[in-house]
Amino acid sequence: MARSDSSRYPPGPRGYPFLGVLPHLRANPIRTFLDAADRYGDLVHLKAGPYHGFLLTDPAHIRHVLQDNARNYHKSPLYDRLRDNIGNGLLTSEDALWLRQRRLAQPAFHCPRLIAMAEAMVACTEQMLQRWDRTASIGEPVDLVAEMMALTQAIIVRTMFSTDLGEAAEVVNRTWPVINRRIGETFWATKLETTLPLPANRRFWRALGELEAVVYRIIAERRRSGRDEPDLLSMFLSARDDETGAGMSDRQLRDEVVTMLLAGHETTSLALSWTYYLLAQHPEIERGIAEEVGRVIGDRRPSFADLDKLPRTRRVIEESLRLYPPAWGFSRQALRDDEIGGYHIPKGALTFVIPFVVHRRPKLWPEPERFDPERFAPEQEAARHRFAYIPFGGGPRGCIGNHFAMAEAMLIVAGIAQRYRIELVPGQNIRAEPLITLRPSPGIRAILVKRASGDASSRPRAVS
Ligand code: HEM
Repeated sequence: MARSDSSRYPPGPRGYPFLGVLPHLRANPIRTFLDAADRYGDLVHLKAGPYHGFLLTDPAHIRHVLQDNARNYHKSPLYDRLRDNIGNGLLTSEDALWLRQRRLAQPAFHCPRLIAMAEAMVACTEQMLQRWDRTASIGEPVDLVAEMMALTQAIIVRTMFSTDLGEAAEVVNRTWPVINRRIGETFWATKLETTLPLPANRRFWRALGELEAVVYRIIAERRRSGRDEPDLLSMFLSARDDETGAGMSDRQLRDEVVTMLLAGHETTSLALSWTYYLLAQHPEIERGIAEEVGRVIGDRRPSFADLDKLPRTRRVIEESLRLYPPAWGFSRQALRDDEIGGYHIPKGALTFVIPFVVHRRPKLWPEPERFDPERFAPEQEAARHRFAYIPFGGGPRGCIGNHFAMAEAMLIVAGIAQRYRIELVPGQNIRAEPLITLRPSPGIRAILVKRASGDASSRPRAVS
């Protein structure tokens, strides 16, 4: 029997006339999505301004959009803001351009390259720890988010572009938070709000210009030196069009480099920050990591070959990515009419895939708020739908850097566990702020507690 027009859509909140739930999404997107799923179930219809929106939390529906019928979905107009600013790189491009660039970039993430890049990850971590050895002895708290951001940034430029930013690192550290905030704030804004010369927009444009200058410098330096490094930048620079033989345009190169620089460090740094936020509240689990690292690696340098022998460390990071997925939400737009769960999805509709919400559905994750790394033990994983856990997305547009990120996070956690335990400065009120990524706000002030030397598994000794 044909459904009447309104019942063609699944149930959902009505919201305001014309605007639907847009004001709620602008004010508090995570709360809006969480409440909608709690109240209306696995498939929710939300009107967002001119768009029909569908919140998907059933893993089978998510697989349909991200994988089985991925050809019918493009990145939604919410990515336009990102495309306007960080450009049309791998994260935002579509169709033939995306496929060509993805094929070009993929070898940079293959296993032999990962093994070589693990060396750089460990070396950068070692440099940070040497700095910590100096600051920790004073007993000063550190800004953990900034520490992790600086570390993962050093790693991404060294591994992907075989350079270090030197003084320009400060520019990336300073400009990216401004850019992230403004793009996050304006996801749901009108074009006018983002183009008027308001102070917030002016600050944003200035930051973008400074960041762009750093990126052009990386590209120009490599062109000048003519070095052929086994890295992503060389792969992009040596790429030739099959038909015309032309190289990649400067603009496209800039877009790919900015994308990789940003997508490749911010998310991992946040994953690490949230991991320490959680570990500081679960000292017994933190001790478990220190014990495992002490047993498997002892005092020597961690390496890629150790990763398979650190299942506890891996599970802690996986569980932290469940509770605080740095890419907390993403969305697609239907190119043609579709059907999901027996409901009509009209051409042009938006589908929202929100890992933060999916990872908290009680029927997929019992006691969802509880931090329990054992959820990632093999037997529990095997019993779960692959698309119930989506910190890296899935399907053809899934994260190209997922193995890189896991290796990086594990090597950093192992390296830190050999020397330090991290405590939170008491009395902080830390909340999850959903910009493009999920940031701990206002930040995480942490105390570095040095472990007794030579034994990562021994009880740590506080530095006076
Ligand atoms: C914990 C760390 C990370 C998380 C949580 C994460 C998450 C994600 C997610 C959810 C997507 C899919 C977005 C969508 O479907 O719209 C994605 C795409 C992407 N990520 Fe990551 N990512 C991480 C680390 C990295 C790293 C280390 C790199 C590079 C070195 C990277 C590069 C990219 C790129 C280029 C894309 C676009 C892929 C494409 O569309 O072909 N990410 N990431």
